[in-house]
Amino acid sequence: MFKIIHAAFLAPGIKRFVLQAPRIARKQKPGQFVILRIYEEGERIPVTIENSNPEQGTISIVVQSAGKTTHLLNSLNGGDSLLDVVGPLGKPSEIENFGTVVVIGGGVGTAMAYPTAAALKRAGNRVISIVGARNKELVILESEMRAVSDELLITTDDGSYVEKGFVTDKLRQLIEKGTHIDLVLAVGPIVMMKAVADMTRKENIRTVVSLNPIMIDGTGMCGGCRVLIDSKSEFACVDGPEFDAHRVNFEVLMQRNAMYRDAEQKSMEEFRARAKPPAVGEPTSRKGSEKWGTPAANSCVATSSTQGAER
Ligand code: NAD
Ligand code: FES
Repeated sequence: MFKIIHAAFLAPGIKRFVLQAPRIARKQKPGQFVILRIYEEGERIPVTIENSNPEQGTISIVVQSAGKTTHLLNSLNGGDSLLDVVGPLGKPSEIENFGTVVVIGGGVGTAMAYPTAAALKRAGNRVISIVGARNKELVILESEMRAVSDELLITTDDGSYVEKGFVTDKLRQLIEKGTHIDLVLAVGPIVMMKAVADMTRKENIRTVVSLNPIMIDGTGMCGGCRVLIDSKSEFACVDGPEFDAHRVNFEVLMQRNAMYRDAEQKSMEEFRARAKPPAVGEPTSRKGSEKWGTPAANSCVATSSTQGAER
């Protein structure tokens, strides 16, 4: 069992967990992830490691309530436990002194971009970060990103905080004013990563994206996380999750992530009907599978696109 040391909402529906996981904390490198299960029959979900503290033997993860399992996870609190946490998985981010790097975090993707931004800064890069969210409430890790950036630009879709627009508007402005950019790292919704890739391809700016396909075993055996890179199949769990954005087939990724949407929705409806969970953010003392529906309800979707949503 992996104990939750601390858990707190960063924004509505987005919760950070600090987990006791000493072995993973010792080995983790930026860009890597874990696959966790809340209880025996539960779904496996991949989640990027936001931070680790080898001295204290802890890792932190950030989870967005998107489907049944993530709602269940986000109802847990400090003192609760997860059945298993496997990792660190995936290849670490490539960290070197590239020069000027633009790190883009879209929504909850900011939590995944953060450790790599911090490592790039430590490696001597000039880091310009762009953080985008739908509204002011959903802007996460602002102070953390500011601390590892030479410049932090923020956009909100509705203009409720700093500047109205998408992250790509800020990237375009940087390009248009002639900022020399050696590398772009983008983590967020697929449409965002595709839009970034389309923009930087024209400018010949090397761009890396962190992909979030469906995952099951995380070992390259099941094929669940297959992505098309230059028309060749690769597995995000072992060959990624970071890939050269200009070589990624985003259309196929979108199609594959949408494959389980109906089943996932059904599963979520069943979950709500059975368990009537409290609203996200509302405190609860319920634990794991005890009162949140039966294992059968959970096995309804063996994999789901929400698995990707946490990463
Ligand atoms: P969101 O939909 O709120 O979007 C976040 C930001 O992305 C927006 O504020 C905007 O600036 C930008 N964006 C969105 N659509 C865009 C477009 N068409 N063009 C340009 N920019 C655009 O994001 P969210 O709800 O916080 O994140 C959820 C999504 O992020 C999920 O789909 C999840 O799968 C994905 N995600 C991916 C990873 C990963 O590893 N790649 C990690 C976490 C989350
Ligand atoms: Fe099974 Fe990657 S998750 S091959």
